[in-house]
Amino acid sequence: MSGHGTPIPMTSHPCGPLTGTAEVPGDKSISHRSLILGAMAVGETRISGLLEGEDVLDTAKAMRAFGAEVTDHGGGEWSVHGVGVGGFAEPDQVIDCGNSGTGVRLIMGAMATSPITATFTGDASLNKRPMARVTDPLALFGTQSVGRNGGRLPMTIVGAADPIPVRYEVPVPSAQVKSAVLLAGLNAPGKTVVIEKEATRDHSERMLAGFGAEITVEDTDEGRVITLTGRPELKPQVIAVPRDPSSAAFPVCAALITPGSDVLVPGIGLNPTRAGLFTTLREMGADLTYENEREEGGEPVADLRAKYSPNMKGISVPPERAASMIDEYPVLSVVAANATGTMMMGGVKELRVKESDRIDAMARGLRANGVTVDEGDDWWSVEGLGIGGVPGGGICESFLDHRIAMSFMVMGMGAKKAVSVDDGGPIATSFPIFEPLMTGLGAKLLRDNRPV
Ligand code: S3P
Repeated sequence: MSGHGTPIPMTSHPCGPLTGTAEVPGDKSISHRSLILGAMAVGETRISGLLEGEDVLDTAKAMRAFGAEVTDHGGGEWSVHGVGVGGFAEPDQVIDCGNSGTGVRLIMGAMATSPITATFTGDASLNKRPMARVTDPLALFGTQSVGRNGGRLPMTIVGAADPIPVRYEVPVPSAQVKSAVLLAGLNAPGKTVVIEKEATRDHSERMLAGFGAEITVEDTDEGRVITLTGRPELKPQVIAVPRDPSSAAFPVCAALITPGSDVLVPGIGLNPTRAGLFTTLREMGADLTYENEREEGGEPVADLRAKYSPNMKGISVPPERAASMIDEYPVLSVVAANATGTMMMGGVKELRVKESDRIDAMARGLRANGVTVDEGDDWWSVEGLGIGGVPGGGICESFLDHRIAMSFMVMGMGAKKAVSVDDGGPIATSFPIFEPLMTGLGAKLLRDNRPV
């Protein structure tokens, strides 16, 4: 597969204790939204702690192409001089969103109700992913789109010149779809209503309120009903991006399966719509504690302490928890292989349309390293081999998926033999400091693919 230049094979060797402090980068979801909402506000938004991964940098470039002034001040400090709701200019080049589904889907929503046309593309992974889930609701506003192969990128979006507000029930649990509709609703007159049956991450709702939009959220028998009043003047904000719980998952899970480990991961957002992995790990018997619990920028935050946990047990993860840990199933399956008993993960059909088909990608790599996996359309299960029981010694494909690559690197740390991936290049999309951070804790990561 192409898309990230020359593949970077990587091998993770079994290692001794992981110890120290893991300062993971800023939250990817909040970083994208900070740039996009900053570009739609009037005046200068200041952002600190922005994730400087490829996904977010592609969104920064896109916001420039739509007319916002985006400046990198160094050290994670950025500013965005916004053009106001409805103020986007028509880009004169194709918008390349790289590997990022969040980037492309949210930007499509943000431009969909302005009288401009834009063409979007991405890498080999993104160009396979379904976009109709976003363009279907955008069509209700009056937006037109033409894409490839049943709604795939490259795709051209013709924004609605005279948009009408919509009422839309999101058919799949997806914060990206919800957010695309809300961002489109910003430039439609009147009230746009989005209904979701299962709660998904609520950063868009929180941040829209922070930027001064009129937005209400009600829990009803129909589900969560979100009502946004269109055509607000968004006020620029000062945003401190919290550290990403989805990135924290890697040092946390690595510590749980690597003998003698004790790792502190400070300042992690524990928003209930994101924290499902940590609840699940604790139910499995992980020695994972929350220290210094506090509130920062309206979000619950804690320092996570993860210690080697030799007695974890596989459980059945409640399907209704899936949305709150959707990006964490790959690394959870690695922990499950180091627990005893069967780990059952149901209600996870969405895993099949992420950066890769994550059930298939993990099943292949786990099997190549001696772990038994069973799977159906919307579930999968992993047979635990007990702590340190994973044979390892296999080479896994990462399928242009950062989380698949990092999960297998974690697996090698606690396995009997090293584990390799064919391409660790995609890790730079969300966690550019993964290698130095993990080796700083004691991991043995090498840039080669010689597992034994
Ligand atoms: C995201 C939503 C999730 C998640 C992705 C980030 C977001 O995708 O997998 O990594 O920032 O809104 P879906 O909305 O497709 O579930």
